[in-house]
Order: sequence, then structure tokens, then C-alpha cells
Amino acid sequence: MTAQVITVTSGKGGVGKTTAVANLATALAVDGRKVVCIDGDIGLRNLDVIMGLENRIVYDIVDVIEGRCKLRQAMIRDKHYPELYLIPAAQTRDKNAVSPSDMKRICNDLKSEVDFVIIDSPAGIERGFRNAIAAADRVLVVTNPEVSAVRDADRVVGILEAEEKGSPSLILNRLNPALVKNNDMLSAEDVLDLLGIHLIGVVPEDETVIIGSNRGAPVVNDPKSRAGQAFRNIARRLQGEDVPFMDLDQQSGFWGAIQRLTGRK
Ligand SMILES: Nc1ncnc2c1ncn2[C@@H]1O[C@H](COP(=O)(O)OP(=O)(O)OP(=O)(O)O)[C@@H](O)[C@H]1O
Ligand SMILES: [Mg+2]
Repeated sequence: MTAQVITVTSGKGGVGKTTAVANLATALAVDGRKVVCIDGDIGLRNLDVIMGLENRIVYDIVDVIEGRCKLRQAMIRDKHYPELYLIPAAQTRDKNAVSPSDMKRICNDLKSEVDFVIIDSPAGIERGFRNAIAAADRVLVVTNPEVSAVRDADRVVGILEAEEKGSPSLILNRLNPALVKNNDMLSAEDVLDLLGIHLIGVVPEDETVIIGSNRGAPVVNDPKSRAGQAFRNIARRLQGEDVPFMDLDQQSGFWGAIQRLTGRK
């Protein structure tokens, strides 16, 4: 087994990175993959809450780095999927408790054990972001269809390319087709034009995401959730499958635009 290390990042805060990590990791586990997620948001951890594991934390990533426990002891097993684990972030205020070489070492140790390591990043482009991308084989950039979020995503794409991390893939999150139709929101086509990177998925604005997060139950487990379906599709694309994009709004021409831009029929 040689795991693929996938980092989810964004630049701007609050666009859905942690939501994406929890849902993609869960969807990959549902597909039978062995997955470890790492919360790279030191000081502001919340991946544990979204995955419903906050009461199970004994050790965190800083305990591993500082030698207070073995890596295995900091891997919290998910309640529903025995092949899904979380390594939580520390609540420490010291952002320098983790370095890029620590992350590389931890990911290296995990590589032979699992299929995917999924790393959640803090907002911004400082130390936590550098840590999160250090070991990445692949980076997913999340943005919302808002000018400020897209601008920050563009900056992150520039840094990733300068750091020779390759071109990242885009998750466009919280798209509202009705607003796009009224020209009140950037369309997927607009965002792709601005960023010029590969699109791996579009996740609609969907209140089931918030309900699921509050329950500690990622929406990929909800068969009726549109956002859940979008995340399940992204997880399958990460496994190399060619999955058509969802038709989020039959009337808006959105689907046609996505097909044109991605060359998918
Ligand atoms: N597709 C969606 N539809 C509706 N709400 C969403 C969607 N995606 C995310 N949210 C909500 O947006 C908020 C921010 O999401 P999340 O915490 O995943 O963002 P983040 O990028 O990790 O934030 P931070 O930068 O603070 O770590 C949460 O309340 C989440 O439930
Ligand atoms: Mg987050």
C-alpha cells in the first residue's frame, strides 16, 4: 500500500475545507478505502467535531511530534467505519509546534498503512498552510463562488505552482444555481475562467451540510443530500473514476457550461 496524500486548502477561511475533508474521507471509507485524516488546523481544531469524534480525543498530533505517544495512539478510529481514522490537531496556541518536516515524517509513516491521507488546512498562507502542503501528492483548493474567495484561491494556486506542488484541482463549494441564473453569483464557468485549474467537483449550497456538521455526521451518509452526492462523486474521481458532473440546475445552462469546460459528455 502506498497512500496518496491529499491536502485540502483554500486561502480564505470558512469556505468548506473541513467539511470537504470529513465528507471525502468518509466517502472513501464507504468505498472500502483505508483513510487517515489529519487536522492541520492547530489551535482551532474542528474536524473532530464534524466527524463526531471530539469526545474520543486522548492524544493529538503535537503529542506524536513531541514523543508523548506513538502515531498509532493518536489515530482515533471512526465510530462507523473501522478503516477511517482521525489524527486531531492540538489546541495549543503555539503554531510552531508542527513543522513541514514533521508532517512529511508522519505522512511517510502512514504511507505503507493506508490508501489515502487527507489533510485539512487552516485558512491563510502561513505556517499551518506550509505544514499542510509539505507532504501533499495532490492538492484540492476549495472556493465559494465569491470574488474574495476566488482571489485568495488564485493566490494559493500561485504559491502551489511556485513550490512545484503541481496544479491543484478545484472544489467549487456552496454554488446556488438560482443566484447564478439571476446573475447574482459567479457561475462555475466564471470561477474556472478566473482560476484556470482542473475542476474536480461542484458542491451545491445545501442546508443538510450544516445539519450534518452539527450532528457529527458528514452528509455523504445521507442518500438524499445533493451535497452528499457531490462529495461522493468527488471521492470516486479521486479514485480515478470518470464520473459525470451532477446536473445542479437543468434550466440554467450550467451543466452545458461544465461539460464544455471539462470536455465531459
Ligand atoms: N455546501 C454547503 N452548503 C451549506 N453550508 C456549507 C456548505 N459547505 C460548508 N458549509 C458550512 O460553511 C461553514 C464553514 O465550513 P467549514 O468549517 O468546512 O469551512 P473551513 O474552510 O474549514 O473554515 P476555516 O477556514 O474556519 O477552517 C460551516 O458552517 C459549514 O457547515
Ligand atoms: Mg476548517
